[in-house]
Amino acid sequence: LSLPNLQAYLEGLGMPTPVPTFPAADPVHNPNDIYRSFIAAALENLIDCDRALVYESLQLTSTPSKGDLVLVVPRLRLKDAKANELAAELASEFPVLPLVNPPLARDSFLQFFYSPKILPRVILPFIHERRASYGRRTTSEQKKKRAIVEFSSPNIAKEFHAGHLRSTIIGAFIANLYETMGWDVVRINYLGDWGKQFGLLAVGWERYGSEELLKAQPLKHLLDVYVRINAEFKPEEAASKQARDEGRDTAEIESRGLFAERNAFFKRMEDGDPGALALWKRFRDISIERYIDIYARLGITFDVYTGESQVNPATVAEAESILKERGVCEPDKGSWIIDFSKHGAKHLGTAILRGRTGTTTYLLRDVAAILDRAKQYSFDEMLYVVSSEQDSYFQRVFKTVQLMGYPDLAAKLKHVNFGKVMGMSTRLGKVELLSDILDKCASAMHDVMRTNAVKYAQVSDPDAVADTIGITAVMVQDMSGKRINNYPFDITRMTSFEGDAGPYLQYCHARLASISRKAKQAGIDPGDGGDIDYSYLEDDHSAALLRLMAQYPDVVGTAFKNLEPSTILTYLFRLAHQLSSSYDVLQVVGAPEGHGAALARAALYENARQVLGNGMRLLGIKPVDRQ
Ligand code: ARG
Repeated sequence: LSLPNLQAYLEGLGMPTPVPTFPAADPVHNPNDIYRSFIAAALENLIDCDRALVYESLQLTSTPSKGDLVLVVPRLRLKDAKANELAAELASEFPVLPLVNPPLARDSFLQFFYSPKILPRVILPFIHERRASYGRRTTSEQKKKRAIVEFSSPNIAKEFHAGHLRSTIIGAFIANLYETMGWDVVRINYLGDWGKQFGLLAVGWERYGSEELLKAQPLKHLLDVYVRINAEFKPEEAASKQARDEGRDTAEIESRGLFAERNAFFKRMEDGDPGALALWKRFRDISIERYIDIYARLGITFDVYTGESQVNPATVAEAESILKERGVCEPDKGSWIIDFSKHGAKHLGTAILRGRTGTTTYLLRDVAAILDRAKQYSFDEMLYVVSSEQDSYFQRVFKTVQLMGYPDLAAKLKHVNFGKVMGMSTRLGKVELLSDILDKCASAMHDVMRTNAVKYAQVSDPDAVADTIGITAVMVQDMSGKRINNYPFDITRMTSFEGDAGPYLQYCHARLASISRKAKQAGIDPGDGGDIDYSYLEDDHSAALLRLMAQYPDVVGTAFKNLEPSTILTYLFRLAHQLSSSYDVLQVVGAPEGHGAALARAALYENARQVLGNGMRLLGIKPVDRQ
């Protein structure tokens, strides 16, 4: 895996060594960087220009027909030179390099196509040696940066809605992505486990709680209790809202009925009353226990279950005193507020920091949590994967940290937002818990699988397969578009084996696994690759696949910049389509070209499966070997 090994190997292929070095190059992890390094070094002799800039001007193309890498001549910012003419000139002067065909000038671009002769010899051993770590960066422990990724974060005793589902799916991906890029990642689940709604839940529990039901189905029962008491509370809440809208004082309304009971219980919690806290803790512990099991179904584990309740009161006090001292917050009718318009952020309006009854707010708890985490983890970045409905909320949080006099800390905070899922409950019926959503998708998937009776009969554990593919279906649907877009929940489309949906991706992986199994049974086993004759992989179909496989580390790098799961997914579908059009042409068992061709292709498919699987796992999808 080291550079000397790579150099020796390239030397064996007739490449001059050492590999030229560039600051942005990572040839040990990214085969495209081997190509970039050699091409940039050759160009360097032809152009009078900063060599790092030459390197960075070698970019990926949008389609393989435009080349594997392209030099964007205008990016070199050379004065006096006409880009088109320079491109043509460079094409004619470019030296012979075994790695690439002679470059082609197209307008102001210089297109490079990887030589199909060298391609399999570089790419296959490269992937084969790295296997599951192909696409990963490795960083020494001392140099590792640390990211906190906070995601999922449901509210105890409340519905697990589509926003939480998206946060879970996208958040798990972002965490994997940072890890893949060599970061140390802390996965945090910041539960909604504090606040007045907990007061209301406790009031509801006194009336409708059942120990038996709590034991049998804790999440469901707590939700039922909450929903019931909340319905009773609604009219009081509406009356208070109306009073506020009409400019009347709400204090009187809130001093009676469920309002008063709710607030009193929450006040007891905030004052540290042991009885109130014991009840709250029981609900919290029981809920976390269940969450752990359900996330496991998605292959997700959190390093920390924290929550709004866990913010250190001393830190809350510290944050408040800084904000008061700096004149950021001000008293307002018994509460403390921040009027952002007085601090150069008019668009953020006014926010309550501490409520009239003296209780903390969501905002204050979040700000204090940041200070706590900065001390505890000394992170380089903290990412909040939360719906775009909270866009301005997070702007307020980050602005508040800045106003406290911590601009560097504020600069490390990032809100990774996403749009809405439309019509999930219309399409799935009543879904309130994560387990409901997953169950319904698995059963819809199971129905689709049953429609192919012959295949269905061969599946040894249909329940498990339906669960995995059903989950893949939801995830792929969620990650297909740009994060910020809303999308309609479409159970028929997402569970279909046709089109770019989850089942097709799994089908593709399972098919590759089956090709390998059948090849081995027929005595075609590429083993460690020593006996492979790469000259069987110089044809167009093999080259098209290999060229795509070579892109994977760059695609991961792009996703790291835009934090879009669709970047990875789009690539995987391109790979899957290329594979689908290869099977008839590139046969393994029974290949008319003989055993040598079969062996080389078996290696090609096995490495393609590796790349596909790496991409799926990065997205948080568990690839299946049979379906
Ligand atoms: N529990 C919140 C909700 O359901 C999401 C928490 C987001 N994270 C945060 N640090 N505020 O809306």
